[in-house]
Amino acid sequence: MRIWSTAIVLGLAAFSLGKPLARRWDDISEKHSWVEVPRGWSYKSAAPADYTFDLKIGMKQHGMEELIDHLMEISNPTHARYAQHLTKGEVEALTAPHPDSVDAVDAWLSFHGVDPAHASTKRTQAGDWITLRVTVEQAERMLGTKYGVYEHSSSGEAVVRTLSYSLPKELHNHIDVVAPTTYFSTLHSMKKTSFLQPEIKPVEDDATLKQLAPGATIPSSCSSTITPACLRALYNTTDYVPKSTSTNKLGVAGYLQEYANRADLQTFLKKYRTDAVGGSFTTQLVNGGLDNQNQPGVEANLDIQYTVGISYPTPNIYYSTGGSPPFTPDSATPSNTNEPYLDFLNYLLAQSTIPQVLTTSYGDDEQTVPQDYAIKVCNLFATLGAQGTSIFFSSGDSGVGAGDCTTNDGKKTTIFQPSFPASCPYVTTVGGTYRVPEVAVSFSGGGFSRYFARPSYQNTDVSTFLTGLGTKYSGLYNASGRAYPDVAAQGQGFQVVIGGSTNSVGGTSASSPTIAGVFALLNDYRLSTGKTTLGFLNPLIYSTAKSGFNDIKSGSNPGCGTNGFTAGAGWDPVTGLGTPNFLALQKLV
Ligand SMILES: *[C@@H]1O[C@H](CO)[C@@H](O)[C@H](O)[C@H]1NC(C)=O
Ligand SMILES: *[C@@H]1O[C@H](CO)[C@@H](O)[C@H](O)[C@H]1NC(C)=O
Repeated sequence: MRIWSTAIVLGLAAFSLGKPLARRWDDISEKHSWVEVPRGWSYKSAAPADYTFDLKIGMKQHGMEELIDHLMEISNPTHARYAQHLTKGEVEALTAPHPDSVDAVDAWLSFHGVDPAHASTKRTQAGDWITLRVTVEQAERMLGTKYGVYEHSSSGEAVVRTLSYSLPKELHNHIDVVAPTTYFSTLHSMKKTSFLQPEIKPVEDDATLKQLAPGATIPSSCSSTITPACLRALYNTTDYVPKSTSTNKLGVAGYLQEYANRADLQTFLKKYRTDAVGGSFTTQLVNGGLDNQNQPGVEANLDIQYTVGISYPTPNIYYSTGGSPPFTPDSATPSNTNEPYLDFLNYLLAQSTIPQVLTTSYGDDEQTVPQDYAIKVCNLFATLGAQGTSIFFSSGDSGVGAGDCTTNDGKKTTIFQPSFPASCPYVTTVGGTYRVPEVAVSFSGGGFSRYFARPSYQNTDVSTFLTGLGTKYSGLYNASGRAYPDVAAQGQGFQVVIGGSTNSVGGTSASSPTIAGVFALLNDYRLSTGKTTLGFLNPLIYSTAKSGFNDIKSGSNPGCGTNGFTAGAGWDPVTGLGTPNFLALQKLV
């Protein structure tokens, strides 16, 4: 079924250039391509010409540089504008495309038989994303490409993607990215950053873990198993009573088919935080996401049990982001693209209120994300930050890289493999520790981006680390790239109730919600004193709030056949600046 207008509407702009129309739009050049089929995927067949899907066009946002300038001012604790977050309207004015870009893209769409004003052509509030319903045949003509059906080896999921795409030369200045094209990851294929740890025996029922007395010392069990009592005592939040629960919120980004279970949360609270029994969270369904209470997810339960376990009674929101079922060749149903970022982030940006803290526990090897796509998504995080949200990502569970760590540029060079979005300079990336006193846990992801330059806020700390490192690992990592993690928290032996029984779970997936809980309490404190929330954190934590972290000085993160980096005094690419000390941070923020 063709639901767009079949009439070819000739754009006026096309005439005004005085170029023959076909020449204007036929002069195409490559936007992005891969030299090999992304690893883990295999080509199955050509995509059926009449398969219908939603094509997203990411327009160049004409005020993005200005937005970043604002963000750097409002997140700099010594600046007069500190924490004066932008409004939704101000952000939309900056992320809107230039009218010339709108004219050019609309003329191109019209040339291809898409009525830019048709009801099926959707635009975000700012107009920076256009979503069109197209057939494969039409997308192939517009993008000078051939789509294929590719299958993911471990999940069996099939997607419609391409190894390269092009745009008319004139549009390269107006369009940043088109999706789905060469970004292959889906919610199913992404790397989760948590895993069950059956070798760690769950902690026995213990009255001292149910509720810590004020000022209590850290229970001895915390050296091997972690409960909210451990984290609250370690990070010094035990005695803090939240006061701003009518305005403060914490959001957890969820997965496809990963559901946070309400009954399990109650069982968890009865076992590990009795004063919070009855505490809950709300679930928001994004893009067809579900809330199946018969299917509790390890990751979802881990995240929500620990964000609630630390931040209670701060309202917590679990975002269950959907996606249509994977591509099936015989289905006539239009399918959306199952892409993990765009739908969710654009959903959040369309809301009138956004949680002031957001935690996410998944990622990809950076090299598997097309660079223009990674930049676009990273800018979406900056856009949320400019509106006052602190965004946490787990740093990954493979140290400096998993497997043989070879490049996908056809040369198969071995290099450390940074992960994305951990490598985006506008998120706060969280590594892992274990034991008491804390040391780095060996899987803690850390490294240096090959896409994003080192941001100025971490110049001093990262330079100091690099001077100490000398020539070790030279060539394996990008010394001028954005370095991560920024901070760390416990990441092993977390007690999580799943389907009624308690399991040990590990991963930097545990560390990120822990840090999110602590920063939600700091936001609560700021709100209670009449201040705004902290927003984008990195310029603050690398400067005036640095002493609020407990520096982790031992451990390392092996990977790629090496011993990895070593944690030491000061910032390091294993545990960042260290683990949070709430009482100290409270005085610094
Ligand atoms: C290192 O990072 C910089 C800054 O993002 C980038 O321009 C450069 O290409 C990267 N170098 C390598 C070898 O990846
Ligand atoms: C918590 O506070 C105590 C006492 O001030 C301090 O010794 C400890 O290092 C703090 N914990 C962390 C993780 O910084």
